[in-house]
Amino acid sequence: MATEVSDPDVTTYRISVVNRNQQYSCRPDDTLLAGMELKGARCIHVGCRSGGCGMCKIRILAGEFESKRMSRLHVTEAEAQQGFALSCRVLPRGDMVIESDHFKPIQ
Ligand code: FES
Repeated sequence: MATEVSDPDVTTYRISVVNRNQQYSCRPDDTLLAGMELKGARCIHVGCRSGGCGMCKIRILAGEFESKRMSRLHVTEAEAQQGFALSCRVLPRGDMVIESDHFKPIQ
């Protein structure tokens, strides 16, 4: 029987998904979406995992992060300034508070 052992040398950040009342830990080299999947959590919609579909759209309410290039088709400049992002393109740099379920099909 496998037992999960937490490694004190590995940095992880706490990701709180407020609208789902869930939290999970995420390493700085995993995207928010990948970190969620690795922990077996289900609080962000999973799609292509590469920034192409918009399914994983979230709103970042607090916390430091870095983001990879994001399609303006799914997150406009104005939305980005309001904290919207694709969780498969965001790497945490500290504890974060986010809101999931912001996917809207492109008209
Ligand atoms: S999962 Fe498709 S854009 Fe993130």
